[in-house]
Amino acid sequence: MAPNPTPTLPPPLETNQRIWPLTATINNAGHLAVGGCDLVELAKQYGTPLYVIDEAGVRTAARGYVDGMARCYPGDSLVIYASKAWNMLALCALMQQEGVGIDVVSGGELATALQAGVDPARIYFHGNNKSEQELAAALAAGITLVVDNWLELETLHRLTLQNGQAENRQAQNGQTKSEKDKPRIMLRLTPGIECHTHDYIRTGHLDSKFGFDPDEVTGLFDWLLANPQLQAVGLHAHIGSQIFELQPHRDLANGMVEIYARGRQLGLPFSELNIGGGLGICYTMDDDPPAISVWVETVAAAVAAACDTIALPYPKLICEPGRSLIGSSGITLYQVGARKTVPNVRTYVSVDGGMSDNPRPITYGARYSALLANRPQAAADELVTVAGKHCESGDVLLRDVMLPTMQAGDLLVVFATGAYNASMASNYNRLPRPAAVMVRDGQPAVVMVRETVEDLLRQDRLPPQWQKA
Ligand code: LLP
Repeated sequence: MAPNPTPTLPPPLETNQRIWPLTATINNAGHLAVGGCDLVELAKQYGTPLYVIDEAGVRTAARGYVDGMARCYPGDSLVIYASKAWNMLALCALMQQEGVGIDVVSGGELATALQAGVDPARIYFHGNNKSEQELAAALAAGITLVVDNWLELETLHRLTLQNGQAENRQAQNGQTKSEKDKPRIMLRLTPGIECHTHDYIRTGHLDSKFGFDPDEVTGLFDWLLANPQLQAVGLHAHIGSQIFELQPHRDLANGMVEIYARGRQLGLPFSELNIGGGLGICYTMDDDPPAISVWVETVAAAVAAACDTIALPYPKLICEPGRSLIGSSGITLYQVGARKTVPNVRTYVSVDGGMSDNPRPITYGARYSALLANRPQAAADELVTVAGKHCESGDVLLRDVMLPTMQAGDLLVVFATGAYNASMASNYNRLPRPAAVMVRDGQPAVVMVRETVEDLLRQDRLPPQWQKA
């Protein structure tokens, strides 16, 4: 008789494959805790709605990417955090500590990364319509610009020549001419790769506002060879976000290595290849993203194999995840308020935030999962729709979900809100934006102070003719 097969345990889930943060537990008080902090206590101390970030979870995800790239890719590598997911000082500083660079897309994100002490050599600036001021700030900071279009290329070239003339004048006046490196640029290409995700967050298909089309590459390379004042260090592409498939990333790797090799053959000083981000996370039990380690292994192997085939020296491989670095480590804590039952239709339970702190459900139809922080083990015995407090019928955070019957004062935790929530938050209906605390080993640290109505009023001006005498 054949022996019973040895039972194998499923591999432990990686951070992006969990709905709840890495350190989430139920504590002795029977409350939900994250980072050793009781969420009921955090709500008391800091108020609601409250964003809570599990520091250990973010660091684990960052190390997953950094160590994975070092282990799986035979050349040099760099992980950069797509900070549009949540750009703030604390996360930029944490990424710098973990050896992760920062991708910025505006002067505001750039200023934040610089103020957080991020090494400019590890900052990459994206965007399809950077202003002249943003380009000048980027040149002054000595970061790498990911050039998106011809206008940007020509503006950068003009600014670089102007800077050169100013430096020459200084030199003639006897001032020391700073021996700055040439501005480092990468080219963003739109390689025409299809993937399955929400239309608004696909970027690599041909009908996209981002980047150069593949048929522009020959002209671009000629232009760069004729204008060596800009140092073209490599190529970039990003195919979209919240992607669960691996094949589009392999296709991207192959296509990009081929174009990169062409540029080098022509004599361009290419040494870096950025294959973007895009790995999905788990929002509900229906989501099944590959683990960070599997994604890294896949892209690293694909790039290395494509290089080996044509005996190309390995470029420095850059990837730039956003969502999968922080999404699963963030939660939002709300206080439950009013209820309304529409007989035979639906029961609404309202919370004290909504589309202003999480615009993803109303924007993308995104779905989330939730639990009660004060009664996490209570049986889910009621089918409800959790609504926000905004004057908008579509302001619904969770539609038709089973939760314990909720009463006013209960604390609802919505999971996986670390990415694209705070960064997309608004003041709709003049709601001040929530505070954020980073939690670790039982210690909460405020990383974003709660906005106040005074903060909002500070920006308003009453023209003098409307002021009372
Ligand atoms: N690189 C570039 C050039 C990007 O445009 C993005 C995301 C990323 C990297 C990071 O992608 P991730 O690893 O986070 O998927 N607001 C939407 C997501 C927009 C993504 C924009 N670009 C959402 O809430 O789903």
